Amino acid sequence: MMSAVSPAFPATSTRSGPSASSIGPAPDASGAPCCARTAALAALRETDPVTKAAAARALYAAVLDGSATCLADVTLDEPPEPPGLPGRPVRPELVEPRQLGRRSMQSPQGRAVLLHALAHIEFNAINLALDAVWRFAGLPADFYTDWLKVAAEEAYHFSLLSARLADYGHAYGDFPAHDGLWDMCERTRGDVLARMALVPRTLEARGLDASPPIRARLQQAGDRQSAAILDVILRDEIRHVLIGNRWFRHLCEEGGLDPHATYTRLAGQYHAPKLRGPFNFEARRDAGFDEAELAELAALAGVGLGTEPTGRLPRD
Ligand SMILES: [Fe+2]
Ligand SMILES: [Fe+2]
Repeated sequence: MMSAVSPAFPATSTRSGPSASSIGPAPDASGAPCCARTAALAALRETDPVTKAAAARALYAAVLDGSATCLADVTLDEPPEPPGLPGRPVRPELVEPRQLGRRSMQSPQGRAVLLHALAHIEFNAINLALDAVWRFAGLPADFYTDWLKVAAEEAYHFSLLSARLADYGHAYGDFPAHDGLWDMCERTRGDVLARMALVPRTLEARGLDASPPIRARLQQAGDRQSAAILDVILRDEIRHVLIGNRWFRHLCEEGGLDPHATYTRLAGQYHAPKLRGPFNFEARRDAGFDEAELAELAALAGVGLGTEPTGRLPRD
């Protein structure tokens, strides 16, 4: 149920289902701007990946041009939570991570499997960003705009990878996938501070570490087009983690919490995956991790800071 509904809130129910027609950020009958947080929830419930991606991009564009606006004081998650979260297609089949085999970059099939796994990460990332927008009330307007921008960029990444997958004769859904990203989203659904700590600052940040070696293997296999897509994604992902760091620190500051001790506490409380090197120190620095955090990672990886060539991993 909703509370503190502003007069500008559209009359359309947020529970009206995930059909494509319900997603567009259209103004309500009075001409008032659409509530972007309600539209984010509708996009999150959308099951068709292409429609979801288009909705995420359209929604951010609508916020930029003023035809949608984020109403921070609207609470959309009081019981029961809307069903069908996240909306996703019947395929890919979701399996345990250990059931997913290792991929050789040397064969086209191996590269297709890799591109599919990356597309699945981006599909989940659209959902994660949309979820942050609709779920957490009472935050500054910039919080919602930041995460809508992230959702739009994740949608772009998904479309780039889907198009590349099509070059290999495949589509999203052709291979099994795992659900680790959404799992962390569910675990942190009641705590925006934990969400910021563990989704962007932990899971997305791991993507920064993983990107250079994957890119190198694609390049080595002669797939320059896919390697170029990874360049675009890494550039954007640094900003996503930066946004996560920004809001994590903002929330810590508001609550009078020490960010380092708070991160350690939350990582334990929510069973965050253990951080393992090699780390992409340069990307992490650009993404807003401070020197104390980077030194801690360097100690974990058993390397010194600042000794690696630009953009390279310590053991790459
Ligand atoms: Fe992404
Ligand atoms: Fe991202």
